[in-house]
Amino acid sequence: MELIKTIHESRGLRTQWQNEQRRVSLVPTMGALHAGHLSLVRRARELSDRVVVSIFVNPTQFGPNEDFERYPRSWDKDLDLLKEHLVDAVYAPEVSEVYPPGFRTFVTVEELSQKLCGVTRPGHFRGVTTIVCKLLIIWQPHLALFGWKDAQQCILIQRLVEDLSLPVEIVPCPIVREPDGLALSSRNSYLTREERLAATRLHQSLQWAKEKVKRGEKSSRLLLDGVKAQLRAEPLIRLDYAEIVNTRDLSPLETVDSSALLALAAFLGKTRLIDNTLLMRDAP
Ligand code: PAJ
Repeated sequence: MELIKTIHESRGLRTQWQNEQRRVSLVPTMGALHAGHLSLVRRARELSDRVVVSIFVNPTQFGPNEDFERYPRSWDKDLDLLKEHLVDAVYAPEVSEVYPPGFRTFVTVEELSQKLCGVTRPGHFRGVTTIVCKLLIIWQPHLALFGWKDAQQCILIQRLVEDLSLPVEIVPCPIVREPDGLALSSRNSYLTREERLAATRLHQSLQWAKEKVKRGEKSSRLLLDGVKAQLRAEPLIRLDYAEIVNTRDLSPLETVDSSALLALAAFLGKTRLIDNTLLMRDAP
């Protein structure tokens, strides 16, 4: 497994793979790897001959009062896991390599970046789409894999790729969950024992809504009222938002249809967790 720190080295290895006619996948991460990340790596291994995983805690996607400084970092363990998963290269640049002095160019997906998580986290998606765009330009992968756990992120990146005509296929991958349903997240490590127990309600409320839809309920208002009532019943959960939107442009849907995404975000103490479900389809 090659450990790569600079854009120059990345380009060198990319050219070598190009000459060998390898099909290349990129899995962008911020490290603190768990089974969710590793499911993307496994899928990438199945779909391509060369897999590069980036590990970069991207400062521009964190707000001033967010957890950039204390974001979990587990470098040695991450490298062991990636070696075990037969990753070909890890790209772990320094902040100054990605954002050199004088950096002024950002990539923004207008409107979509301001919905759902964009309301509470202004600027977050501008940071995400900028770093992802840079990674795609540096590595020029055939495929880039993203988890549906961050559905809005997947949708924005798909939009970015289409709008800028980037020659890459975006592959959304299923949400990996704990046995009790909680979506795996690096931020779960912040939860106290009580918060961790309460957090199972997030997925339970999504499952409840999906079940209602299966039995014929189509009214978003009714479904959202139910979800919100269930989350309000747990004192450790403070709901940020719960919305039913379409997967194309994230506009609210009054009536559930095959594009309906139920997405929510909630605080448990200081920890903000997100989860979602497609109401009339199985997630990717
Ligand atoms: P990070 O939170 O480290 O996640 C990296 C990738 O793993 C993302 O595509 C995310 O959706 C996916 N992932 C996380 N938890 C998952 C789960 N439980 N099941 C399936 N996939 C999961 O998302 C980011 O980093 C950053 O915003 C990034 C795209 C790297 C840009 O900095």
